[in-house]
Amino acid sequence: MAKPIVIFDSGVGGLSIYQEIKQVLPQVPVVYCSDMAGFPYGPKPEQEVIERTSQCLNALAERFDPSLAVIACNTASTISLPRVRGELGFPVVGVVPAIKTASEYSKNRCIGLLATPGTVARCYTNRLIDDFAADCQVIRVGSSELVHTAEQYLRGEPLCDDQLRAILSPFLTAEPQPDAVVLGCTHFPLLREALERIAPGIHWIDSGPAIARRVVSLLADHDHQPAGDDRFVHTGEDGLADTLALGRMGFAEITSLELMPPVN
Ligand code: DGL
Repeated sequence: MAKPIVIFDSGVGGLSIYQEIKQVLPQVPVVYCSDMAGFPYGPKPEQEVIERTSQCLNALAERFDPSLAVIACNTASTISLPRVRGELGFPVVGVVPAIKTASEYSKNRCIGLLATPGTVARCYTNRLIDDFAADCQVIRVGSSELVHTAEQYLRGEPLCDDQLRAILSPFLTAEPQPDAVVLGCTHFPLLREALERIAPGIHWIDSGPAIARRVVSLLADHDHQPAGDDRFVHTGEDGLADTLALGRMGFAEITSLELMPPVN
């Protein structure tokens, strides 16, 4: 029986990565984990995010024996990868802002980064910019408000264009306007249609397709026979997961994940 892959995020953002992976690997069984009790990660101190990510992934490893895990969260990946890779006995794929792709695309050498307050301030992000976009002007917008908006949107609430315009205003009013903006938070591709409507002149870049390709290459030797339904697990209260249309997204089972207290 094929082992599942685990896709992990603080909330529903990783579903944007789940959708990309299922497009190229429809057969692979997935356990999606949302750390609802730890959400949001964006404003949290770095050490707290590292501990939380490690605690969740270790619990998932023990319960599901996965072949691979994707940390579908830029806020966590930009600081937690070395720690969890050292702890787990299977490959861990991280999702980090696609600065290189934006730099390769940009004609006017002005790019944007739309991410959480944590991700825009990370040393890892500074390094990506130094390495791949040193000749670009980079406009950084860190917004937890937009993360909450994406969560509510997936629970069926309508979007408000004025609110989105206000969040995007550093890009919209810049001179020149960035011609490419990196969606450096996995929640934001879920809002892609609205972002394209509000800022049609901007090319919005997300890491999803590249992550899906990476997973395909890592699973090249694995058995891809259909092997059961996809499962959604979460920390925290049951009610929150019930407000998402998970059945429609392909999840047959919703269960909660017990976390062991951290070992210190
Ligand atoms: N989806 C997450 C990311 O890619 C973060 C959301 C949060 O603030 O928890 O960064």
